[in-house]
Amino acid sequence: MKVRLDPGLCQGHGRCYDLAPELFGEDDEGYGRVLGDGTVPQDGEQEARRAAANCPEHAIDLVQE
Ligand code: F3S
Repeated sequence: MKVRLDPGLCQGHGRCYDLAPELFGEDDEGYGRVLGDGTVPQDGEQEARRAAANCPEHAIDLVQE
């Protein structure tokens, strides 16, 4: 599984990097970004789902590989 973040939808609410700091970081202006290539480790799937579910802008997608 991978996470994807649509920068066109992100409004910088910050829930993704608060809830899943191993998967998301923030840029200088507080917008979210995917760390690395977005690959979710097996023990990180719950975190990834929580981040996606809690983004008010629905900017995060989970992609099955
Ligand atoms: Fe942006 Fe949503 Fe994260 S608005 S900062 S992707 S919680």
